[in-house]
Amino acid sequence: MKKVCIIGASGKLGQYMVQHALDRGYEVVGVCRQRSVAKLDKFKERITLVPGATNDRSVVRKAVAGCDGVLTVLAPWGVQQYASGTAQAVLDFSEPDARLVFSCGWHISRDGKDVYSWRLKALVSIAGRIARLFRLVELDDQVEACRRIFSSDRQWTVVRGSDLEEGESQGLPVWSRHVGDRILESNITRRVDFALFMVAALENDGLIREAPAIVGCRTRSALASRSKAQDSSVHPGPRGP
Ligand SMILES: NC(=O)c1ccc[n+]([C@@H]2O[C@H](COP(=O)([O-])OP(=O)(O)OC[C@H]3O[C@@H](n4cnc5c(N)ncnc54)[C@H](OP(=O)(O)O)[C@@H]3O)[C@@H](O)[C@H]2O)c1
Repeated sequence: MKKVCIIGASGKLGQYMVQHALDRGYEVVGVCRQRSVAKLDKFKERITLVPGATNDRSVVRKAVAGCDGVLTVLAPWGVQQYASGTAQAVLDFSEPDARLVFSCGWHISRDGKDVYSWRLKALVSIAGRIARLFRLVELDDQVEACRRIFSSDRQWTVVRGSDLEEGESQGLPVWSRHVGDRILESNITRRVDFALFMVAALENDGLIREAPAIVGCRTRSALASRSKAQDSSVHPGPRGP
């Protein structure tokens, strides 16, 4: 992996991804709205910027050209197919062998086997309705964006973030295929580590066509799962015939 494009580079997640990508020695191309260019001033000399709306196909086409990897923040903003337009452009224009990594939340389900708490269900339903009323956020469009990604034969990974918090890195988050698994119970990840997982996914072929739901590696549920796994390897339970 030499050159990566970060779509949504000026956001909180995007800026952390820029830093992680530079730390790994990648050449970075960032896409963000014209009005947000100044948010990336600290990286000015080290990245190439393509300003523009991320659902503008010509902007995405220019930015992803020659990139080995594309990291895309799927943001459900507005009611103009912002997320699905962005995802479609990335699927259409990125290099044939590029690794494509997208961000979203736990509310996205790949196979319908996720088990959600009443809290998350209520949050998605109420927040979604209020936001749609004010034409701020279009959660359904993030679902549509992911539907298109899941049905694509590109080398994609959709990283599904838990609730997020700021703070120092704790290391690479752990993940599960399904929300509802005990390892995810704590439902919290440092945003800097969400970004770390996104960038690390670029070089992890085991995550191709997976939709990992992530949680911080130092959370109570992650630590409990790890010690349970260690216990069962030290004291293996009774084996079958
Ligand atoms: N927030 C959470 O608790 C949470 C939880 C789980 C998963 N996630 C996922 O994490 C990712 C990043 O979320 P985040 O909350 O951390 O936000 P973020 O990184 O700050 O990203 C927001 C992005 O949306 C853009 N944006 C903001 N307002 C916009 C508008 N009106 N029109 C177009 N673009 C606009 C921002 O660009 P500008 O810099 O130009 O404003 C930025 O690129 C998303 O994929 C989200 O689904 C978030």
